Amino acid sequence: MNRVYIKTYGCQMNERDSEAVAAMLRGKGYSMVENESEADVILLNTCSVRDQAEQKAIGKAGHVTARKRKNPNLIVGIMGCMAQNRGDELIDRLPDLDLVVGTQKFHRVPEHLDAMIATMQGQGPRPESIVDLEEEAGSQNTIRSHVEDKRQVSAFVSIMQGCNMKCSYCIVPKTRGEERGRPMESILEEVRELAAKGTREVTLLGQIVNQYGVREFPFVEKKSPFVQLLEQVNEIDGIERIRFTSPHPVGFRKDLIDCYARLPKLCEYIHFPMQSGSNRILKAMRRPYTIEKFRSIIEQLREVRPDIYISTDIIVGFPGETEEDFELTRKHFEEIGFDMAYLFKYSVRPGTTAEPLGDPVATEVKEERNQKLLDILGKRSLTRNESLVGHIEEVLLEGPAKRGEGMFMGRTRGHRKVIVPASERLVGELVPVRINSATASTLMGELMLEGVEPAPTAYANSI
Ligand code: 5AD
Ligand code: SF4
Repeated sequence: MNRVYIKTYGCQMNERDSEAVAAMLRGKGYSMVENESEADVILLNTCSVRDQAEQKAIGKAGHVTARKRKNPNLIVGIMGCMAQNRGDELIDRLPDLDLVVGTQKFHRVPEHLDAMIATMQGQGPRPESIVDLEEEAGSQNTIRSHVEDKRQVSAFVSIMQGCNMKCSYCIVPKTRGEERGRPMESILEEVRELAAKGTREVTLLGQIVNQYGVREFPFVEKKSPFVQLLEQVNEIDGIERIRFTSPHPVGFRKDLIDCYARLPKLCEYIHFPMQSGSNRILKAMRRPYTIEKFRSIIEQLREVRPDIYISTDIIVGFPGETEEDFELTRKHFEEIGFDMAYLFKYSVRPGTTAEPLGDPVATEVKEERNQKLLDILGKRSLTRNESLVGHIEEVLLEGPAKRGEGMFMGRTRGHRKVIVPASERLVGELVPVRINSATASTLMGELMLEGVEPAPTAYANSI
């Protein structure tokens, strides 16, 4: 009764929450399985940010609960944002669901499963479904356990939960609640533990990381709590690279920009959501900055780190987005030259302030706008990647590549994916790699280590 399969939808925050649930379950004697057909318990960790994400998870939950007809002992749960957003409605829709666990209750999953299994083993009637969605003070401090028996070369560290912004399209403040930062010392302790177990890279996670602790902790020498945290993570031996996601233009000040000049472990990469290039739409989105302000932050970042890699989020087709508005988005998107971007078609979310505006931009128009940005992005990513051919990049080897015997995957400091022939013993190492060829998404290279023979290179054809 103790084999658990977790399927995760959505963002890195969700991945991190799933990892923490897995670690807590392992600590209680459960084992995690990679294949859902072997599982006694199936948990779906869900996303609500777009309707499509919810529909996908509901579809999956429907399939999985249907399996309970053949195997009544199977336990099925929905956790995370959609659980929080839809709550009891999920049980109405999927009466065979056993568990609905909200975003502040991940740490309760082991005890809920224990209780459910105990009732089932007592041969009693099928236990009642458990719905646990309350707010819980201090829940941000519970996402800290990591999987014990597996080295994570690169690890996510959740530094805060929730969001106090009120972007008109966004459901996150509803699903994740008020902004709550973890104590700095607890975060640092977690990073030290990770480093001791072989982690080389950490990505600090929060809805708006640069807001971390602004209410809880003081500024010191005009430095925000987030900058203080970065400084301290930079001091931890064994950690070689620091990333974070996502920052917001509001509160992105000189103290943070300067970090890119003075903290050597902070990678020259930033994910910086722009959302739109039209000030009129930014205002309607309740994003409290102008495109000029956004671009000035990027200019300052490029002054201190001319080689910085920048990625972004864009929403096309927000209600009222005209051709002129989109043209501004297109123009700024092209001029800034993003190296990566997540492009989203607007999706109405219930309960948001934009909901009453409906969804007036036609799907085909959204698709066309999306495609225009994708074309720009494809060209820019390819040019940037091609500029690396012939150069030596520092690559953190993360593990075997999905395809190709003897091939390994790693990332440059700029977060570009690199495929290289290597050996298992180099996983977790920072290695110099000469880049030999490039596509828009991937670099191919060879190790430049003395005494390390590159593996035979059939890979050029096989990848
Ligand atoms: N529709 C489309 N995209 C959305 N995002 C958030 N809410 C919506 C929505 N209702 C996008 C934003 C955000 C990213 C995580 O998801 O770009 O930065
Ligand atoms: Fe949503 Fe805006 Fe908060 Fe990001 S900053 S989580 S887009 S409300």
